[in-house]
Amino acid sequence: MRKRWASSAGLAFGGDYNPEQWPRHVWAEDLELMQQAGVNLVSVAIFSWAWLEPEEGRYEFTWLDDVIAGLDDAGIAVDLATATASPPPWLTTRHPEVLPVTAEGVRLHHGSRQAWCPSSPVFRERAVALAGAMAERYGHHDGVVLWHVSNELGCHNAQCHCDVSVAAFRRWLEDRHGDLDELNEAWGTAFWSQRYGSWDEVSTPRATPTFRNPGQVLDYRRFCSDELLDHYRAERDAIRRHDRDTPITTNFMVQRFISDLDYWSWADEVDVVTNDHYLDAADPDAHVELAFSADVCRGLARGREWLLLEHSTSAVNWQPRNVPKRPGQLLRNSLQHVARGSDGALFFQWRASVRGAEAFHSALVPHAGTDTWVWEEAVELGDALRRLGPVSGRPVDAQVALLFDWQSWWASELPGRPSQDTDYRRHVEEAHGACWRAGVTVDVLPPDGEFERYDVVVVPHLYLAADGVARRLSAQVEGGGHVLVTYLSGIVDPDGTAVRTGGYPGAFRELLGIRVEEFHPLLPDQRITLDDGTTATTWIERLHLAGAEPVTSYADGPLEGVPAVTRRRVGDGTAWYVACRLDRDGMDRLVHALLTAAGRPPRPPAPGLEQVVRSGDGSAPVRFAINHGPADADVEVEGRDLLTDERVGPVVVVPAGGVRVVEEAVP
Ligand code: GLA
Repeated sequence: MRKRWASSAGLAFGGDYNPEQWPRHVWAEDLELMQQAGVNLVSVAIFSWAWLEPEEGRYEFTWLDDVIAGLDDAGIAVDLATATASPPPWLTTRHPEVLPVTAEGVRLHHGSRQAWCPSSPVFRERAVALAGAMAERYGHHDGVVLWHVSNELGCHNAQCHCDVSVAAFRRWLEDRHGDLDELNEAWGTAFWSQRYGSWDEVSTPRATPTFRNPGQVLDYRRFCSDELLDHYRAERDAIRRHDRDTPITTNFMVQRFISDLDYWSWADEVDVVTNDHYLDAADPDAHVELAFSADVCRGLARGREWLLLEHSTSAVNWQPRNVPKRPGQLLRNSLQHVARGSDGALFFQWRASVRGAEAFHSALVPHAGTDTWVWEEAVELGDALRRLGPVSGRPVDAQVALLFDWQSWWASELPGRPSQDTDYRRHVEEAHGACWRAGVTVDVLPPDGEFERYDVVVVPHLYLAADGVARRLSAQVEGGGHVLVTYLSGIVDPDGTAVRTGGYPGAFRELLGIRVEEFHPLLPDQRITLDDGTTATTWIERLHLAGAEPVTSYADGPLEGVPAVTRRRVGDGTAWYVACRLDRDGMDRLVHALLTAAGRPPRPPAPGLEQVVRSGDGSAPVRFAINHGPADADVEVEGRDLLTDERVGPVVVVPAGGVRVVEEAVP
């Protein structure tokens, strides 16, 4: 690629810029303020379709020419959207068939955003035409350094049940299963008289009187992810016909609230992995969830650069209670992403809107203007990112691998499951969180990723597992590795079929030396005590030893005396299983024991202190120390403080709520 999306010496800083919402005199002020804050990259034209193509086939680019020229003159690079995220009213009025249909058969209307069916050929044609026209006009503009296809694909329209989608789903199923006999087998249609005799009878999982067929739902979720990926590719290829040099991305949504796209299958299709991340305001440990999402992004990037394209300066406007961030948090959250590999931090959005559905969403320039903590901290962040420029492109040092899988997420939520209280993403986060508290950095990999490079592999709640994963993990342990598998793993195969013989956790039984006879979900207020004093909620299992030794057992409750945590030793390796949802203390002890078995007993940092190191070939390691806790914390490190340019150490104090970044002196 000829171009790079951030200046070669630095980290990116900026946000979504929507000048079409403002009169031109505001544009001049925007540029001045952007320069003041050190903004160097903005995302433009994301929702501009109705402005760029006011009627079918008539493009109106001059205003955008002026915006891009102004930014370029000010030294601010552009991440240019294809502008196709939201169809203009003329499109859905003239072609109402592009509007998505819910599972209940309700056709949705224009008036918000993303009102389009991912399988619609009409929408695809118009979007591809606009993407091509944009690339033709701006592809060779030096100020445009990144293409931004659509926006958060699938955020609101991942699932459509219109007739066009049903036909596309049938084609997708024919590709996957070959013929109807295979489909009937995979979906288990012998159950409830669902056997299909002809493709015309097969539909998307539309609304039904009771539980829908789980195999059908699982395939549908795969189809939805693939269908949007196809759309992405179509726009991307339209850009490539005019512009061979500029990197292309689409902003992913790796976060707790959204599970629709299997980003493992998307990651190699983008030139740069980019992500949007928003905190759950109700979660006091939201920074730990942030760390997990950032680690997933790094995994998706597979050693390439990645970039946080959106987060919020303060409150969002779409949660039940939109609590603002506290002063200090904007900087902390941003540098957390950078510590975990993001080559910059961008926001939604530059200037807070005064009209429209997101008027009360925070921005870099709030309604209250520049005499605000948000603006002051934004300026501080701009300065910090400039100073941290040298870390751009440097890899993150990680010690442990953790397997994460969107397909397991989908499968674990299929109709008719044993407990509605199990929550794939949270259970994975809980395992990751224990590593976070142990002060260990985790690389997140797909189940078929190269986890052999790590001597410790954590496999939380891998509900859907192909046999190959268990085989590889067994080899890992036989070679002296250490593997922790948590409850509800290996329950179904890739078709969603429950393990047939011998009990759970299916493919992992031999590796773990156990056999689970029966699940025992707990009631909402039920808490079981283990014999080491820790507790379990939500989930326990009737487990039998078959080669493993018990580590802890239930001290009360319906399974009193039954092992809860087990370990199987194989030579120097160990395979651990936890059959219940442990409390935080229990997870911390377990991870401590696992790391100790691997010969690396952790030294947990002060509560709330996060440390991550970015280092590269031959370059000095850069240690990020981020203090989310209420008390100052000491860190033993010596070198140059990159934020103040002073020599520091051998002990550095990280103030409560503060961040220190030290380039370590290499002895
Ligand atoms: C997403 C979208 C933005 C905006 C923000 C609000 O990230 O991409 O357009 O709606 O959410 O949080």
